[in-house]
Amino acid sequence: MIIYKAADYHDMSRKAANIISAQIIMKPDCVLGLATGSSPVGTYKQLIEWYEKGDLDFSKVTSINLDEYKGLSPDSDQSYRYFMNNNLFDHINIDKSRTFVPNGLESDARKACNDYNNIIANSGGIDLQLLGLGHNGHIGFNEPGEAFEKETHCVNLTESTIEANKRFFASEADVPRQAYTMGIKNIMQAKKILVIVSGESKAAILKEVLYGPITPAVPASILQLHNDVTIVADEAALSLIPQ
Ligand code: GLP
Repeated sequence: MIIYKAADYHDMSRKAANIISAQIIMKPDCVLGLATGSSPVGTYKQLIEWYEKGDLDFSKVTSINLDEYKGLSPDSDQSYRYFMNNNLFDHINIDKSRTFVPNGLESDARKACNDYNNIIANSGGIDLQLLGLGHNGHIGFNEPGEAFEKETHCVNLTESTIEANKRFFASEADVPRQAYTMGIKNIMQAKKILVIVSGESKAAILKEVLYGPITPAVPASILQLHNDVTIVADEAALSLIPQ
């Protein structure tokens, strides 16, 4: 595991965008696993800037997002599909038909999840998976639990996640209670994993993830077992980790 210390959110975003750029340059037809949330917004901005400068070409890239709220349509401005279009896809030359997000409108959870597992399998596998970190240690929407959930599944969001994500909605009552998410097995099968973490509020959970026991109670702790993980975290997020 490589840990890069960034000065702040901006520096974290540049470092992460550099790693993603390297992946695209080395393998133009790569499969990127992408994430939503506040953590990757700066990374996506930086990628757009380098695309506009002519340094990056997304035309052969496939992207597969981690998760989507169940019940939200792609047009809903709170959906993760909308987020991805707005924060990245609409600003680069990626072929939208090769950008995948779970289908939040599919009410048959088994079908939604099977379809998504097939998309991942048919892509040939994720070359680089970008991850943010939830305050309770979740990755994608793999919430703390009794066991590591394997492939794409439907989750009930925890109170802490609903609380953390309510800032994007008009009120807490509007936050969907369920989501479809890639499972730990899907994530662990990615060839490389890049985790970005920013801010003091993530310092305690980041320490547990990196140095605590590997347990489903802290889903991201499983990353200790992956053989190609890069963490890019800012000083505030790394503040509890002895240097
Ligand atoms: C959300 C998403 C995750 C994301 C995490 C952290 O609930 N499902 O994929 O990584 O929470 O979000 P943020 O980056 O806004 O702190």
